[in-house]
Amino acid sequence: MSQDAQRRASDLLEGVPVPMLAVDGKARTIGANRAAVALFGGGDLLNRPFVTILRHPAVVAAVDWVLEPDRHPAPTPDPSLPVPTDGVAILNAVIVADGRDIAAEITVARLPSPLGRGATIAVLDRSETEEAEQMRRDFVANVSHELKTPLTAMIGFIETLRGPARDDAKARDRFLDIMEREAARMNRLVSDLLSLSRVQAEERRRPSAQVDLPLLLRGVLATMDNAARAAGITVETDGLAGSQRVPGDPDQLVQVFQNLIENALKYGASGGYLGVSLRRIDHEPLLRGPAWAVEIRDRGEGIEGMHLPRLTERFYRVDTHRSRAQGGTGLGLAIVKHIVNRHRGRLRIDSTRGKGSTFTVILPESASRG
Ligand SMILES: Nc1ncnc2c1ncn2[C@@H]1O[C@H](COP(=O)(O)OP(=O)(O)OP(=O)(O)O)[C@@H](O)[C@H]1O
Ligand SMILES: [Mg+2]
Repeated sequence: MSQDAQRRASDLLEGVPVPMLAVDGKARTIGANRAAVALFGGGDLLNRPFVTILRHPAVVAAVDWVLEPDRHPAPTPDPSLPVPTDGVAILNAVIVADGRDIAAEITVARLPSPLGRGATIAVLDRSETEEAEQMRRDFVANVSHELKTPLTAMIGFIETLRGPARDDAKARDRFLDIMEREAARMNRLVSDLLSLSRVQAEERRRPSAQVDLPLLLRGVLATMDNAARAAGITVETDGLAGSQRVPGDPDQLVQVFQNLIENALKYGASGGYLGVSLRRIDHEPLLRGPAWAVEIRDRGEGIEGMHLPRLTERFYRVDTHRSRAQGGTGLGLAIVKHIVNRHRGRLRIDSTRGKGSTFTVILPESASRG
């Protein structure tokens, strides 16, 4: 192929946003766009047998067929993929490139005829889409499981109340109590799910209101005071006097601190201590500006390091049984994380097994940064 045609082939590919290669009639590369160079690496993608770049039997077979349809069998169409037009092959393949396995949708088509005999190969990386799909499936499975557990219990008790316990007043009261508790749990789960989806939906929209942070924290602490006292926990505060305004959504920030303080009271109770402090950071490097840090500390059992990175995942708990027994849904920290993200802030978790945990929420002081 002439230099000129090669240049025209490359120009054509450059306008395509996915990695794309062009080969001549002998399946040697004559074009590669920037995305292809980034994916397959090296500036020496040209003038090479195609198979040295993408060594996947099904892809090679598809290229052979597009180049010489009379001499090679047509690939079997994949029903999960769009129906290709005449002379085009579309296939799913897991290819190795960029040092990783990539689940890709690959389209092989004839080169436009003015450019001579040849083919184009476009590689659509579907790994992220597949991952998102998998996460969605996991989420639906988790939600179903979390709802099914209390539902199964309730159905069991209804049957017992209809049958064996029909005339047993004492059993009836006890069962009704349990059913009430299970129903409350389902209710909480559904509220948390709605809350999570609402926060996620507006995560890109920054809060437009202003919040008096110390005032808000004093308010949340006041509502938890009884619970702390009942659990025999000493509450220590620092920096909560006075008034300081930051951009924020008041309801959502209440939810954040309620969640974190409730966790400290629930899981850190054995330490008998809860510390809540607020301080200003002149320059928070991650937020590139002044910020306010709210620290919630307990001296309870702490969390093993291996759990920390996953703690904010939906439904992740260190001890599922215990969290459930205490009425937890495992969504608290996921909600916290999304709200903090929406505020362009940061959530930091430090914890030492046996010593206690510190959850720090860092919020930008003004809306113009971060
Ligand atoms: N202060 C803490 N000390 C020890 N473990 C904690 C602490 N805070 C959270 N955890 C662990 O992290 C897990 C996840 O917390 P998260 O708030 O997301 O869910 P939950 O408290 O179980 O349920 P929910 O918040 O919906 O009531 C908890 O189950 C617990 O194992
Ligand atoms: Mg919680």
